[in-house]
Amino acid sequence: MTETLEIKITKTSNSRLAQTDFENLPFGQIFTDHMFVADYADGEWKNLEIIPYGDILVSPAISSLHYGQSFFEGLKAYRHADGKISIFRPDKNAARFNKSADRLCMPALPEETFIQSIAALVDIDRDWIPSKPGYSLYLRPYMFATDRYLGVAPSKSYKYMVLACPVGAYFSKTLRVKIEDHYTRAAEGGMGYAKSSGNYGVSMYPARKAAEEGFDQLIWTDAKEHKYIEEMGAANAMFVLDGKLITPIAGDTILDGVTRNTVITLAKEWGYPVEERKVSVEEIMEGAKNGKLTDAFGAGTAATIASVGSISHNGEEYTLIDPKDREFSQRVLKTIDAIRYGNAPDTHGWNYIVG
Ligand code: PLP
Ligand code: COI
Repeated sequence: MTETLEIKITKTSNSRLAQTDFENLPFGQIFTDHMFVADYADGEWKNLEIIPYGDILVSPAISSLHYGQSFFEGLKAYRHADGKISIFRPDKNAARFNKSADRLCMPALPEETFIQSIAALVDIDRDWIPSKPGYSLYLRPYMFATDRYLGVAPSKSYKYMVLACPVGAYFSKTLRVKIEDHYTRAAEGGMGYAKSSGNYGVSMYPARKAAEEGFDQLIWTDAKEHKYIEEMGAANAMFVLDGKLITPIAGDTILDGVTRNTVITLAKEWGYPVEERKVSVEEIMEGAKNGKLTDAFGAGTAATIASVGSISHNGEEYTLIDPKDREFSQRVLKTIDAIRYGNAPDTHGWNYIVG
């Protein structure tokens, strides 16, 4: 039996729920009434609290601002037709949270604290969870260094916080993607596998250049030769080529996505051939050209299953088959959604039921 955490709760006297337009939920801009906060100092986590959402006061010298000791997670809570609320696979995010912490010399957070802090926030703000299909409550746990110190060294104090946002799909359309062959997001020995804030900062400049050329997303390639596909900016890259589901190995340079793992698990159960291996740019472009690439999508929590409409590399661009006609990604999205929204049996135990 796990112990229930002691969390001090201060509820808002001024809910914004009634004024929130649930027909218009731009990603990550609308926050629920509350947030979770905890402090790490003297070697332990303390002051676990849920407080009204709002600005916080921090010193201008905190080391996360200067040296990037900061990382985050992303997961979602869903409303079922019978009113139950579930969180999708939070144990996976809890484990990855600590992988990121370790890479950045930051303290681990007990997995139970991670899960219970999120469940408590979801419970308090449960009325904020949208009920429309495809909508959910996006949860953003994160940790950052709070020592007031300009020397380059791991901080001794940290904050752990969780924010919640009602959201729809992150991408509103089929993606026009470009395979990046100059800039790099992560190299071997770096921190690509961590959900470190710096990984996102470094991707903005190349993403902006691609956007100026009319692309919606980049597909990153390996740092050494730019010959092998890595992942997208906010999702893992997955393909159906020659009737097989193929995706790059989640090694040093790639985030080991929860959605990626979910898709692979289902595909294997369906008897689909699955290959986690090096995926060359050449075979993807060749498949796009000769029609053997019958599906391509980004898999991620915010992105869900985001269809790639066309792929471009070195000025060559191919449009793939209409997403509506793609057997694999249609089936996988339907199946995952049915589980998340409680419309299909959760045979894997993926739903953490809040109540
Ligand atoms: N890759 C990157 C860089 C991401 O930001 C994300 C989103 O979290 C993913 C992959 C997909 O991971 P997950 O399915 O765990 O959300
Ligand atoms: C997520 O899916 O949680 C992500 O990390 C995407 C985010 C960068 C918008």
